[in-house]
Amino acid sequence: MCGGAGKAAFVIKSCDPDCQVTLVDCSDKMLDIARQKVRKQNIQGLEVVLDDAFSFLARDEKFDLIVFSSAVHHFKDPLALLEAASKRLNDNGLIVTIADPTTLTKTRRYKFFEFMLSDKETKKTKVKSWFAFKNNGETAAGQDFDLAEYQTYTGIDDKKLAYELTKLGLHPMVHMRYPAGEPYLTKIMPWLGLCWAFSMIISPHQVNDHALKVQGIKEQLKREMPFRFQFC
Ligand SMILES: C[S@@+](CC[C@H](N)C(=O)[O-])C[C@H]1O[C@@H](n2cnc3c(N)ncnc32)[C@H](O)[C@@H]1O
Repeated sequence: MCGGAGKAAFVIKSCDPDCQVTLVDCSDKMLDIARQKVRKQNIQGLEVVLDDAFSFLARDEKFDLIVFSSAVHHFKDPLALLEAASKRLNDNGLIVTIADPTTLTKTRRYKFFEFMLSDKETKKTKVKSWFAFKNNGETAAGQDFDLAEYQTYTGIDDKKLAYELTKLGLHPMVHMRYPAGEPYLTKIMPWLGLCWAFSMIISPHQVNDHALKVQGIKEQLKREMPFRFQFC
C-alpha cells in the first residue's frame, strides 16, 4: 500500500517469487518506475494499481500481508487507515508498518541534533527559514507544508496508536523504535536516545496466539538489524 516505486513490493517478490503482489499508489509517476522494472526484469505476479489507499481498501480482495513502508504518516488518521487495511486481511493475515516518525521528531533535542548533523547548505536554509518565520510572525500551522505530509510535521504518537489499535481488536505483536536516515545517523542517534522512527507488525489475533512466532521475529530482528533499536 502506498508502495511508490515498489521498493517493498520487489523485496517481497524476491523473498517468495511465487507470491502474488499488488502494488498500490496514487502517484502514476512513482508507479511508472515500478512498471518499467517489472517489464525490464520480466517479473510475473506483480500487479500495479493506481488508486487512493482508502478507495483500494474499500474493495473486496483479501491479502496475507499488507505493507505500509514510509506511508502511514501521509494520512491524517493512521488508525482509520490501519483499521481499513485490517478488513482486507485473510484469517492469518498481518499488517506491517515501516519507517514512520514518532512524536520524538517534535522535540527540541531531536531538532537540535538533526540541525547539528545536517550539511552546511541544509543548515543555511534552516536558519533562513527561522528568520523568515520570525519576521512574518506566521504560526507553524500557517506554514506552507503539504497536508498529505501532516504526520511528518507532528509525528505519530505510536504508543497511543498501539493502544487504540488494541481497543479495536488489532494487536501490535511487534512494535519497535529505531533511527532512520543516513547510515551515520542511524549509528549515532540511538546513543543520543533518538530512536525516532517506528514499525509495527499488527495482527487481528491476540499476541498469545503468536507467542513463539513473535519471539522468533524479535530474535531475527536483533541479529539482522544493522543498528540499535528498542522494542516497545
Ligand atoms: C514516502 S513515499 C514511500 C514510498 C514507498 N512505500 C517506499 O517505501 O519507498 C509515500 C508514498 O505514499 C503515496 N501516497 C500518499 N498518499 C496516498 C494515498 N492517499 N493513497 C495512495 N498512496 C498514497 C505517495 O504517492 C508516495 O508514493
